[in-house]
Amino acid sequence: MTKNTSFTTSFGREIPFVEGYLEAHSRNEWEDDDWSDDDSDSFVNSPMSYSSFRKDMVEHAVAQDFLRSLGVKMEWENGLEIGGREAVVARLLRGEGKVKNIETIDLKPYYKRLPTSLFKKRMREIRYPKKFGIPVPRRLAGKFNPKFYDWAESQAQEFGVKPHNNWGWDMKMVEEPELGEYTIGDINTYDFTKKYDYVSSMGCLDYFNPDNLFKKISSILNPGGVFVFLFEYWWFPVTTTDVVGHFPYVTQRLTREDFIRYTNENFDAEEAQWLLNRRDYYHQGTQLVPKDYAEIADRNDLHVLGEHRCIALPDYVRRTSLPPHILDQYDNSKLSDVMEDIKQFRDDVSLMDLKTNFFMMAFEKRSPRKPDLHEKIKEVPKFR
Ligand SMILES: C[S@@+](CC[C@H](N)C(=O)[O-])C[C@H]1O[C@@H](n2cnc3c(N)ncnc32)[C@H](O)[C@@H]1O
Repeated sequence: MTKNTSFTTSFGREIPFVEGYLEAHSRNEWEDDDWSDDDSDSFVNSPMSYSSFRKDMVEHAVAQDFLRSLGVKMEWENGLEIGGREAVVARLLRGEGKVKNIETIDLKPYYKRLPTSLFKKRMREIRYPKKFGIPVPRRLAGKFNPKFYDWAESQAQEFGVKPHNNWGWDMKMVEEPELGEYTIGDINTYDFTKKYDYVSSMGCLDYFNPDNLFKKISSILNPGGVFVFLFEYWWFPVTTTDVVGHFPYVTQRLTREDFIRYTNENFDAEEAQWLLNRRDYYHQGTQLVPKDYAEIADRNDLHVLGEHRCIALPDYVRRTSLPPHILDQYDNSKLSDVMEDIKQFRDDVSLMDLKTNFFMMAFEKRSPRKPDLHEKIKEVPKFR
């Protein structure tokens, strides 16, 4: 336990520690990268939980609403879901008749956690929960059992949206929700032999280097094809890194060098290393804002169709019970102070970034840009 009560940044700002802030957050286990041990085996062979199924389903609903708002017609032949894990999204895309041939790529065979029969059972639980053995239409289910209200409401609050008709998600299976193809591989190195019309990446952009990923996606998308992502944003106070310090926004408001000094001054060596590893693992050192994603896309012949910031509704946040609008109410955690600190080392972050917990963006693959005319002029004979 540190005796310090503040941290002084390299630019001379003394950030006060907020007593109890660190302890108010718990950490998730960091997923083990060793695929050969027994823990990994038992994880992949254990059925997917209802709550994680529900989370993936809501992510899908939110992303599909976003695409609809952009006028994207979901009638695709070949689709790829990157980091699709148990392939909930892939099954939904196929089941809803939006993508005829769907494929998922992930590092491990997570699909084993969700056979088609379990997928259907989970869908039934959501669409038609039973009361005394009688299936209840989902729009009414919340009236009978708050559990079925929660499944629609809690995540909707996290994404800052209302469930459809205030009760659930309008999802109709018109095709068998089969898994489709499941490729075990690394998106960065996998050699794709075919092209796709639709590529999505739900909840995992923070695992990739965006330059490499966009380049890869551009190379496998057919012209006119669409790429959409949704992921947990870097600038929210508690991110997928799970790194929480003695004051809010510890990873965002300190430079990497200051962060290293802060952890060394306040944690034992092993923990300090753990914190740095987590900080560096996600986003791979690229803490981007929306215009950066647009620029990377542009370099890779991906034309921005639209973007959407998910701002959690005031009364619910999963990753922290001290969301930005609460932090902003106290003198030692004001967002304007956080902004001031960030401005010392970069000038492209806005207050909205500090409040955004999920971010979505969609792109269309266009034909490669035509070279400049002036290159051509060098070759043409003079005309008079
Ligand atoms: C946080 S999970 C997201 C799972 C699911 N799509 C969701 O929305 O909850 C990130 C997934 O990306 C996968 N992943 C990470 N790096 C990858 C890579 N290089 N190639 C393919 N999949 C990768 C992980 O194995 C994991 O299943």
